[in-house]
Amino acid sequence: MECSLHFGQVEGWAMKLTLSVIKADIGSVGGHVSPSKHLRETVASYIAEQGTRLILDHYVSYTGDDIAILMTHSRGEGDEQIHRLAWDAFRIGAEAARQEGLYGAGQDLLKDSFSGNVKGMGPAVAELEFDERPNEPFLFFAADKTDPGAYNLPLYLAFADVMNTPGLILSPRISRGFRFVIMDVNHTTGDRVIELDAPEDLYDIAALLRDPERYVVVESVWSRAGGEQAVAVATSRLHNIAGKYTGKDDPVMLVRVQMDFPATGEVLAPYAIGHFVGGCMRGSHQMPLMPVTLNTGISYFDGPPIVSCAGFCVHNGKLTEPIDGFAQPFWDTVRGHVANKAMEIRRQGFIGTAMLPMSELEYTGIAQKLSSLDEKFHMRVTEKVHAIN
Ligand code: 13P
Ligand code: 13P
Ligand code: MG
Ligand code: MG
Repeated sequence: MECSLHFGQVEGWAMKLTLSVIKADIGSVGGHVSPSKHLRETVASYIAEQGTRLILDHYVSYTGDDIAILMTHSRGEGDEQIHRLAWDAFRIGAEAARQEGLYGAGQDLLKDSFSGNVKGMGPAVAELEFDERPNEPFLFFAADKTDPGAYNLPLYLAFADVMNTPGLILSPRISRGFRFVIMDVNHTTGDRVIELDAPEDLYDIAALLRDPERYVVVESVWSRAGGEQAVAVATSRLHNIAGKYTGKDDPVMLVRVQMDFPATGEVLAPYAIGHFVGGCMRGSHQMPLMPVTLNTGISYFDGPPIVSCAGFCVHNGKLTEPIDGFAQPFWDTVRGHVANKAMEIRRQGFIGTAMLPMSELEYTGIAQKLSSLDEKFHMRVTEKVHAIN
């Protein structure tokens, strides 16, 4: 996505680097829980062997039943060969999953042949291209059992709310605010985007982001001080590609941090809320989002929806080892809090807000049920009550 903010190259930034993260659900053990060790190793070794001439570095991980391939390279966003590398790794992985008899083998590979870019083919993708800073810290988020709107609140708080991000008043450059590029994911004639600036357009941003399920998600965020892109979110809607439920979108996200961008802790802080997101069991419920450690599976009620965060520094395209954004003991208390919220809303079962509205339900069964019941409805003949004289 091109943004209209263009500023010159920042002094001292050496090379143009691209971060590409491409993720897919290609099969998992015991239901939609987590990929097998063999499957993960198949994907990782394919990338390690076949990617040598194309990529500078990579990191393969899983979150719930999704495998994500993070790659560094200098080929730019949407590069056909980079996308093909990930697609082929997933295709070979899906075959391994079929041989192992994993559940949902090849679930997110919705097209038979590769057509230049994985967008619209099932896998989710988030990419950032930038001039590498001398110190280039960034965060890689992956969520399972939810959709891209799950990041709306954390991004709003991190990039636009002083209550969360003191940098917005303490740092003169961060004080210049951020540009949000917001996508209407349910527009009938295709994806449309709008660019809004915080803080001037704060209420307009809030008015859109309040409905993360049905209409809009943050697609990217840009620093207004430096013109650099801070955030890229995978905005794909599997439902729109497949025309039917094939699983939730389970979005990945890349966030550059520090200096012109919020600090790591400011970006992580909103996940302590455990806000309610769409997804969980059968992709059809409202459940709180639990921050989890890297490579965590799924359990309670096909959930709760989870989000993981791997932090890196990248230098000349080489990644450091990941730090686990949600492993520190603080997050154990948050997880307990989120588990309580999850159990509380589950006590309400299928009633009212516990389930997503009809338009977002991921199964057609209920629509069929309601239309068959519709025929059985009959008008009540109201008895006339005569007043007693
Ligand atoms: P995934 O989208 O993670 O495959 O989950 C599917 C589902 O419906 C779980 O209940
Ligand atoms: P199936 O509808 O294929 O069983 O997958 C969705 C699911 O497992 C929901 O829990
Ligand atoms: Mg699955
Ligand atoms: Mg998943």
